[in-house]
Amino acid sequence: MPWIDVTKSERLASGQIVTVDREDGDIVVWRTTAGKVVACDARCPHQWSHLGTAGAVDGEELVCLSHFWRFDQEGTGSKLSAAGRRDEKSSIRTFAVREQAGRIEISIPD
Ligand code: FES
Repeated sequence: MPWIDVTKSERLASGQIVTVDREDGDIVVWRTTAGKVVACDARCPHQWSHLGTAGAVDGEELVCLSHFWRFDQEGTGSKLSAAGRRDEKSSIRTFAVREQAGRIEISIPD
């Protein structure tokens, strides 16, 4: 699988999200508060909100602001109840990411 160049590392600060426009489905690339870069499908599996515009990084997770489903770095979905209970939700597909020579790249399976 070839690596696809996304952006300069310095253009994705902690808490930021960038969208990779693709004909067969957008991908969002985001950086956690701790600095890890994650890539996942851009469409929330709940009601299809685009996480490039309706998403926000919250610590080590990406949150869909439409109905507050959350996705961890492996794409596992959940939602926090008002009491703090974490309920399982649908997961989102993730992709391999690497940072090298000041660039962020992702790999998408065929
Ligand atoms: S559309 Fe994302 S949580 Fe509902």
